[in-house]
Amino acid sequence: MTSLDELAGTGRAGTLYGIGVGPGDVRYLTLRAAGLVRSVDVVAFFAKRGQPGNARRIVTPLLAAGRDEMRLEYPVTDEISAEHPDYQQKIAGFYRASAAKLAAALTAGKSVGLLSEGDPFFYGSFMHMWRRLVPEFPVEVVPGVTGMSGCWTRANLPMTWGNDTLAVLPGTLPEEMLVERLKHTDAAVIMKVGKNLPKVRRAVQQAGLLPRAVYVERGTMQDERIVPLAECDAPRGAYFAMVLIPGEGRRL
Ligand SMILES: C[S@@+](CC[C@H](N)C(=O)[O-])C[C@H]1O[C@@H](n2cnc3c(N)ncnc32)[C@H](O)[C@@H]1O
Repeated sequence: MTSLDELAGTGRAGTLYGIGVGPGDVRYLTLRAAGLVRSVDVVAFFAKRGQPGNARRIVTPLLAAGRDEMRLEYPVTDEISAEHPDYQQKIAGFYRASAAKLAAALTAGKSVGLLSEGDPFFYGSFMHMWRRLVPEFPVEVVPGVTGMSGCWTRANLPMTWGNDTLAVLPGTLPEEMLVERLKHTDAAVIMKVGKNLPKVRRAVQQAGLLPRAVYVERGTMQDERIVPLAECDAPRGAYFAMVLIPGEGRRL
């Protein structure tokens, strides 16, 4: 029986590609990403229960009928807090099982493209597969246009001028921590807004930044929405939503 090490070493194992598919509009895929989406043996993607999977939806125009697909369905997403032990246990088990499925296809010599919304190495589930599989299989990561880059472009917001510093903050942080971090940066991107919207808005207001803050929902996608954060008083935002606070540094 050939070991995984031997398969990877002899080049008979397939390559795992972490494919960044950009923020939503299929035209923002790189040439490398689009080529791989069309050519890999198996197109793998993560999806929330009952949903088509956002990264999979983005590449739909590039997928001919009959392609071999591997859907990896999260057992939970934002129904439980990511800090809760049940969440961590379920997700860790899911990541282990998903890595085993990917490993089986790679061991069979298939190339697998795991789609990743935005960039694979930026808050991507792909990273949990990468760390499990990179010791044993050939892996190539294809960078993607990040969600924040797509959003600030669509919102017409130049973000960092001169010596401006930029903080990228998850909206899941506690409110006081958000306020603290916001007070020590010139520009900020607040990711993972979703049900954290009211807390994020309060934190931005306490840091004195509400007049500059813009809420972007589903940036570059068909149902994109861009509004001043000051006008967002809904009890929750979309999962694909972020808040952008541009810097005010040197303008020549
Ligand atoms: C798990 S992270 C994935 C980030 C992704 N890998 C990237 O490079 O942008 C998901 C968060 O990214 C943000 N996001 C990604 N794409 C977005 C988009 N097109 N519009 C608005 N927010 C987006 C949202 O804050 C969302 O909660």
